[in-house]
Amino acid sequence: MIEDLQPPLGLLAELTHRCPLACPYCSNPLMLEHRSDELDTATWCRVFDQAAALGVLQLHLSGGEPAARPDLVDLVAHAARAGLYTNLITSGLGLAAARIDALAAAGLDHVQLSIQDADDPSADRIAGRQGAARTKRRVAADVVAAGLPLTVNLVVHRANLPRLAEMIALAREMGAGRVEIAHAQYHGWAAVNRAALLPDRQAALDAVRLVERLAPGAGIAVDHVVPDQFADTPKPCMGGWGRRVINLTPSGRALPCHAAETIPGLTFWSVRDHALDRIWAESPAFRRFRGTAWMPEPCRSCDRRSVDFGGCRCQALALTGDAAATDPVCHRSPHHHRVAPPPRPVESYVYRGR
Ligand code: SF4
Ligand code: FES
Repeated sequence: MIEDLQPPLGLLAELTHRCPLACPYCSNPLMLEHRSDELDTATWCRVFDQAAALGVLQLHLSGGEPAARPDLVDLVAHAARAGLYTNLITSGLGLAAARIDALAAAGLDHVQLSIQDADDPSADRIAGRQGAARTKRRVAADVVAAGLPLTVNLVVHRANLPRLAEMIALAREMGAGRVEIAHAQYHGWAAVNRAALLPDRQAALDAVRLVERLAPGAGIAVDHVVPDQFADTPKPCMGGWGRRVINLTPSGRALPCHAAETIPGLTFWSVRDHALDRIWAESPAFRRFRGTAWMPEPCRSCDRRSVDFGGCRCQALALTGDAAATDPVCHRSPHHHRVAPPPRPVESYVYRGR
């Protein structure tokens, strides 16, 4: 146990893996957890109380699609009473206007709505569902009408990067105060579609320049980072392993990041068996890559080891076969060339369950 261990800032609660969309960049696992294994209302509420007692400030309600849970309003109300800042991460599907009003009345603090493209037919193709783009515009209007702050989340990749400026404009038109641009990451189902999603180098660099040019006068806050494929230094994934966030799967397993189950040999404790404070401090999975003592060279003696915490363990595993290796995004990794393979001309997506 690390002596100066701070409490986590956030709890990411994946309320369900069920989802009405089928995005090819989904980073949820290949094998989704079944509805019958999901935590019930009372257990989630107990966990929210434990999170607040532990010092967690922000609760991110995610999935899958959290609106697929019939008890969503009750969960938000309980979390708000526990003193947690509540953020709903949603595709928008399943959120009628009355339900959005009920969530606002229950104490929801913020909504993060994903959009797939500025062009509706392309957006529906990416989401794998006809009419999804139109529904999202209606949901955004209802969220703003309910007085809730809105962030629009854009996952960008080869198909939609050419319309990034239009997507930012759409987010502003929808009434968002912030837009978060995230380049697809190749965990879970997204790995299946990597060849069809990877943009070429020029398109990704054009996007970075476009954001730098647009952001100051865009009338909206824009969060964007250089995509891993074209970066030379890793980002501190999850703010550092076991440092800022606990990720709970629908069945209650506590993970240091959403893709941690891909790493062989880790044992994940469940909130069904252990209190959250014990999981945070003692669970072997959280301790495995916490801090800097586990690091091999070149990280061990690098000045950035307490800045990026060695980058992403899941990416290190996926690209080198060793979760303890230096993240290949780092220019000091001997595997750096594996991060941006030459794009292959694959245009069709593989959708879940089809
Ligand atoms: Fe980060 Fe390790 Fe690269 Fe240093 S060597 S920049 S700690 S990944
Ligand atoms: Fe697992 Fe980055 S996604 S450490």
